[in-house]
Amino acid sequence: MQESGVRDGVLNNTHSRITLRHLEKVSNPKSIHGIYPYRGKMSALDAAHVISQLPSTAFLLDPFCGTGTIVYEAQAHGMRAIGVDKNPLACVIARGKTEPIDKKHTMKKLSSAISAAKSQDDVPGMPISPARYFHPDTADEIMRMLQVSDDFSPYLLSSLYGSICVAARACNGWLWTSTSIGRINKPLRRIDFYSTLLRKARKHIGFVNTESPPARIHDYDARRLPEIIEENSIDVVYTSPPYFDALDYTNYYSKIVLEIVGIDRASVRKDLIQRYSTYREDMRNALTAIDAVVHDNSLIIFIVGDRRVHGKLIRGFEFFTEIAPWDSPYVVEREYTDTASGLWDKINKTQRKEQILVWDLANGG
Ligand SMILES: C[S@@+](CC[C@H](N)C(=O)[O-])C[C@H]1O[C@@H](n2cnc3c(N)ncnc32)[C@H](O)[C@@H]1O
Repeated sequence: MQESGVRDGVLNNTHSRITLRHLEKVSNPKSIHGIYPYRGKMSALDAAHVISQLPSTAFLLDPFCGTGTIVYEAQAHGMRAIGVDKNPLACVIARGKTEPIDKKHTMKKLSSAISAAKSQDDVPGMPISPARYFHPDTADEIMRMLQVSDDFSPYLLSSLYGSICVAARACNGWLWTSTSIGRINKPLRRIDFYSTLLRKARKHIGFVNTESPPARIHDYDARRLPEIIEENSIDVVYTSPPYFDALDYTNYYSKIVLEIVGIDRASVRKDLIQRYSTYREDMRNALTAIDAVVHDNSLIIFIVGDRRVHGKLIRGFEFFTEIAPWDSPYVVEREYTDTASGLWDKINKTQRKEQILVWDLANGG
């Protein structure tokens, strides 16, 4: 697409071009990214493809990291990386995917936790709202596991939370699609939660990177980045920001998990950028915060989309170009057809289009 930004000893000498390719599929089943079904998760294949073209010496920031797809891929590429997200659940998963662990010890710990869970007395009942989705025996097993999870590593917590989502879907006959999460399909099936959890933890543990430097994940507001990140320190910002008010990142599977673990959704939501009325100002503040931590030669990559508001189509790239403190980005547009997001497109009355914006500050933005 263009020459990369330039910085002494970091991005210079490479003069690399970033190319984007058409993706036949967006998810990679042979990866850690399926550990938790976070709504709004970006394509890991896309992230890996872009990151593979960046110098591994660069320092990367994803200010809206969600479950850490970009941060994980950057870490796997040998980069130092920071992820920031104000949803505590997303941060647990991002840490679970990027914190180095002793794999043998982790699986041993899980086996003994399961034995301890089985022999628990006085197990609290699952809160009424999420309990509707589970067979009572499965709900009891989930609550038993929660009782013994206080000292779980982020990896084990990610496996636990991801397994709660698998169990919810399985108890409802595997009928949930990305747009029918939460529909109750009776009779509810009984699922052995302990085996589900063991399977998930075993399936993904091989992908945890034990060699690369650990990434830093901050549960923090992206509008306040300079409070946690040194000014002028970031070489590459790569992110998919929250889209207008289209997605509630505490909803869907996360609603079920947050209710079970006892985190108040409203208090999480109030700090997230997801209301259209304040979106422009919120994003402007986030971009100003990003501007403070990048330097003159940084590369800033945003994946954005379109949105129809009050009958008017708002083009993501136009919106961001207008509010960004940097000049004219490179823009590449992609269109998705025949994907699971078709229904979403209908609701949103727009074709699913995605734009990749790149500000190359070395070339004047
Ligand atoms: C499109 S999602 C990112 C998904 C991520 N790329 C992944 O693959 O999981 C946008 C993220 O922005 C986060 N977010 C919203 N408002 C925020 C804020 N004020 N500060 C930091 N993160 C915020 C949401 O919690 C959500 O996880």
